Amino acid sequence: MHDTLALRGRVVTFRDNPFVTDPVAALHHEEDGLVIIRDGRIERMGAYADTLPHLPAGTQVVHYPDCLISAGFVDTHVHYPQLPMIAAYGEQLLEWLERYTFPTESRFCDPAHAHDIARRFLTELLRCGTTTAAVFCTVHPQSVEAFFTESERLNTLMIAGKVLMDRNAPPDLRDTAQGGYDDSLALMEHWHGRGRQMYAVTPRFAPTSSEEQLELAGALLARDDSVFMQTHLAENVDEVAWVRQLFPARRSYLDVYAHAGLVRPRAILGHAIHVDEPDLATCHDSGCALAHCPTSNLFLGSGSFRLFDAMDPRRPVRVGLGTDIGAGTSLSQLQSLNEAYKIAQGTGHRLHPAQAFWLATAGGARALHLDHRIGTIAPGMEADLCILDPAATPLQALRAQSCDSISDLLFSLMMLGDDRSIRATYVAGRKVHERA
Ligand code: GUN
Ligand code: ZN
Repeated sequence: MHDTLALRGRVVTFRDNPFVTDPVAALHHEEDGLVIIRDGRIERMGAYADTLPHLPAGTQVVHYPDCLISAGFVDTHVHYPQLPMIAAYGEQLLEWLERYTFPTESRFCDPAHAHDIARRFLTELLRCGTTTAAVFCTVHPQSVEAFFTESERLNTLMIAGKVLMDRNAPPDLRDTAQGGYDDSLALMEHWHGRGRQMYAVTPRFAPTSSEEQLELAGALLARDDSVFMQTHLAENVDEVAWVRQLFPARRSYLDVYAHAGLVRPRAILGHAIHVDEPDLATCHDSGCALAHCPTSNLFLGSGSFRLFDAMDPRRPVRVGLGTDIGAGTSLSQLQSLNEAYKIAQGTGHRLHPAQAFWLATAGGARALHLDHRIGTIAPGMEADLCILDPAATPLQALRAQSCDSISDLLFSLMMLGDDRSIRATYVAGRKVHERA
């Protein structure tokens, strides 16, 4: 017996990269569309009238009139253990880590706490329409165990890893180069490729890892091309100065990671605000990804990511969108896009709504080299979807009335939307969230 389901509504997805081609042409829009799902995958998508004859007999059709059916959002950089310390007052990066982050992460030696926060985090993500994320755990292997166990229960496609940190951190949050390697290898062997779970080797950032630890991280990655790597890069000017001091022989912050063999496809570098042209060229050549984290960068006063430099079609770098909770202020990628638009404005660029939604879906999937599985609505893709309500509040309903194009409707969603805009979320064809 096959498991089938169909969703009817206004379908929005991408046929092309809107940073390379005309944004409106890259966007595919089906005014009254039907998405047929079979055994967790999209079997067919098209205009309702044309697609209805292909509906297997007895298939339930869920109709979302006036809602948009989109691929689920992809969050390319987020810390689940920091959920309880979102909105911590007053500091910039290095003091914020000392004062708020490290004490919060210390609690994850307790597996019960880790399971509790992992469960709440995944629930919040799905409430925001995000179906895939690249997730930092803590230095404790049990924090990873808890996260993957909860994710496996939901069947969400998640990337996560144990934080590696053998210096410049409180003693209870430090591992050793060899201990971090051994714990990571055991977790990787257990979880990577188990169902939809994938492992990321996760050195926190250059200042908290010895050269030896970074090299062992490279050795872990050299064992398996399909494993991910995630870390932070050039987020804050004091951090960049510290890295220059700690690694005087390296040309740049990025070069610290490149030297250890960490800059490669499936490597995700958070922030990358204070980077230069040779760094961006290295990113382009290597196939690594940058995670643009707008709400976090504004919250911590870190600076402005130059999105349109990174996306320069002459040497495009893969870029995804990250919420970076707890430095970020919302798990909603609609909120990330709101701030991304303003950061682009402030740097002299217009972030078109098609470009914005591409970054949050297909572009994020491409950044992670997962675009053959998620990020678009097309036959064969895994059925991770979110249902967007452009009229979730009275004000949004008023604004939606004056929308004369799908682009304008998407723009109103990204500027005014949040978790309330998510009518429902589907993971591998199963409904995992429905708005009350
Ligand atoms: N750099 C090193 N660790 C962190 C972290 O937890 N959050 C952010 N935003 N930057 C970091
Ligand atoms: Zn981060």
